[in-house]
Amino acid sequence: MLRYDSALQLFERTATEPVRVGDVTVEPGQRIAALLGAANRDPAVFADADTFRPDRDPNPHLAFGAGVHFCLGAPLARMELVESLGLLLRELPGLDLAGTPEPRGTFVLRGFTSVPVGV
Ligand code: HEM
Repeated sequence: MLRYDSALQLFERTATEPVRVGDVTVEPGQRIAALLGAANRDPAVFADADTFRPDRDPNPHLAFGAGVHFCLGAPLARMELVESLGLLLRELPGLDLAGTPEPRGTFVLRGFTSVPVGV
């Protein structure tokens, strides 16, 4: 789920020294935006990248970033998702969409203002 619809779509970095990325050199002081959501749909990494498959294994997504700034709260976020979604689906096994979800209209931090559901 985190791969398929990444909550944090991008973050920025400022180069402190020249960095080569593909055919481009990012000069010191220049800023780049790493598009996590796009990386998580990279067909070179994920088969059927646009398909939601909760049982993907391996699933090397970047929804929590990477490297030294990897999300400190990732274990807590994962635990919260497993517990809350697990309980929801156990208690309401017939849970289904009952209308069109309304996106929050934001890009960097995605989310919904409402998701109508029924059982
Ligand atoms: C689904 C939930 C979450 C997602 C998708 C998420 C995503 C991310 C991402 C992509 C980064 C890297 C940002 C960067 O490299 O600049 C990050 C960093 C961070 N996250 Fe999360 N996060 C989540 C939940 C949490 C929670 C629950 C906490 C704390 C309780 C948390 C605390 C942090 C902190 C402190 C950093 C900065 C780490 C650093 O710069 O060294 N996150 N998060």
